[in-house]
Amino acid sequence: LGGAKAKYAEELIANGKKIATPGKGILAADESTGTIGKRLASIGCPNEAWYRRDLREMLFTSASRTTSAAWCVPRILFEETLYQNSSDGTPFVKMLQDKDILRKYYEQGARFAKWRAVLKIGNGCPSELSIHQNAYTLARYAVICQENGLVPIVEPEILSDGSHGIEVCAAITERVVAACYKALNDHHALLEGTLLKPNMVLAGAEGPKADLKLAGYLTARTLMRTVPAAVPGIMFLSGGQSEEEATAHLAAMNQCDNVNTPWTLSFSFGRALQASALKAWGGKKENFKAGQDAFLARAKANSESSLGAAPA
Ligand code: 13P
Repeated sequence: LGGAKAKYAEELIANGKKIATPGKGILAADESTGTIGKRLASIGCPNEAWYRRDLREMLFTSASRTTSAAWCVPRILFEETLYQNSSDGTPFVKMLQDKDILRKYYEQGARFAKWRAVLKIGNGCPSELSIHQNAYTLARYAVICQENGLVPIVEPEILSDGSHGIEVCAAITERVVAACYKALNDHHALLEGTLLKPNMVLAGAEGPKADLKLAGYLTARTLMRTVPAAVPGIMFLSGGQSEEEATAHLAAMNQCDNVNTPWTLSFSFGRALQASALKAWGGKKENFKAGQDAFLARAKANSESSLGAAPA
């Protein structure tokens, strides 16, 4: 390991490990302006900057309302939020920084970044070429992050759209994740300073659902076959599952008796951490507490699932 990466190696390893602390996960709050507009529309709010700010403020200030360590500490932010202030004028970055959460893109203090590369199943997709191109783009991004002191979250997302069976998703996820680690190796990424954010192995959203235990087993097995033990943590995306489904699947993979995974299997959910909070908040300041209660309930349930407890 040479050059700039060597400069940050210790820090990357420490931060990778910290983010993957057992029992903790990530709140993915980095929806683009267009995507968050869809979430706001679902509760009848227009896609205005102050609604986007209030939603994020509600989520980011919730940790201070709990005496136990926050169940999901790091937040992934969209660029707008990095420059936005909370309603009392405090920059969001400062608010999070004061809680030892982040500073800026390295200089400002961000310590990790995320790149999502999307693939879909069906009609001959994903092609070998797209798997390869996605993997090499992700690996290139990963080493650029590391050269700048940021832990890269590598997110090859295979969308759940389609009616394929779970075995198809398992086989394709295996090829895709294996390709990512080949590319990361070719690029000399420091694996201890990276995190993986994959899809869970599930049947297509438009087909019959697979058994929970089977999904947990196939997810764990796929990762055991493809992810090096040097990686500190695997933080799943929720991919359009309901909050309860995502929590149950996380528990199932952590309860798998016959697969002893070397990494933390945790969460980096967007929709599956925000859906009920969004509803309870409804765009109204007076509902901040109700929204936060809903968010904290999901964070706690996912934390417990990541530690192998059965969902309550
Ligand atoms: P979902 O959990 O809603 O899939 O979002 C996670 C994410 O950050 C996708 O990039």
